[in-house]
Amino acid sequence: MTKPTTLRTDRLVLRPYRLSDVVEVYGYAQDPEWGRYLPIPKPYELRHAEEFVARSVLTEWNTRPVFAVCSGGSVIGGINVRVDARSSTAEMGYGIAREHWGKGLAREAARAVIEWAFSEFALAKISARADLSNTQSWRVMEKLGMRREGILRSELPNPSVPDSRVDMVVYAILREEWLWWATEWADARS
Ligand SMILES: CC(C)(COP(=O)(O)OP(=O)(O)OC[C@H]1O[C@@H](n2cnc3c(N)ncnc32)[C@H](O)[C@@H]1OP(=O)(O)O)[C@@H](O)C(=O)NCCC(=O)NCCS
Repeated sequence: MTKPTTLRTDRLVLRPYRLSDVVEVYGYAQDPEWGRYLPIPKPYELRHAEEFVARSVLTEWNTRPVFAVCSGGSVIGGINVRVDARSSTAEMGYGIAREHWGKGLAREAARAVIEWAFSEFALAKISARADLSNTQSWRVMEKLGMRREGILRSELPNPSVPDSRVDMVVYAILREEWLWWATEWADARS
């Protein structure tokens, strides 16, 4: 039974969402550039942030853990995991407010969540997928030690361009690969 959990990294606190997070989530999610590759409502209104935060507060941590990513006491992003217990696999998704891009924060947060998820759910594999054009996103996956598994051609409607579709790129990391990377990173820090 997985309980709502808080994780800490060098620069971030990853904690369960609270209803009071709505304004901060709305603040970054209404930025069209933030939502460019995401299947979120456009334009993104306050009620969409309210629905997202309410769903996140009520989430089932056994199958759908979701963390608010906080810096200096403010919510600057989120990370979610979809666990498939039958196959011992999970898929991760993440987002960071635009003003904080390019500082390695997505990688830092995702690394902590991957470590937690491998241990908490005894997973064999964690994957992530992104629009192939979302280079920033799959660069994060590569920096996490994930390997490219392939491209799903014309997989989804383009969330930003009507009547067009996007290719999705899939990355994944196996438990044994993660253990290897974790040792490498621990050595690099000592
Ligand atoms: C994807 C996202 C989470 C990355 O967050 P971030 O904190 O900036 O990520 P990091 O700083 O850890 O790494 C970003 C990497 O992309 C690179 N990058 C940044 N802008 C880039 C660009 N326009 N083209 C190519 N690479 C780019 C950075 O240089 C960095 O790689 P490097 O360390 O090798 O230089 C962030 O852009 C985001 O929230 N986007 C909107 C939501 C979204 O698309 N989420 C992903 C859904 S699959």
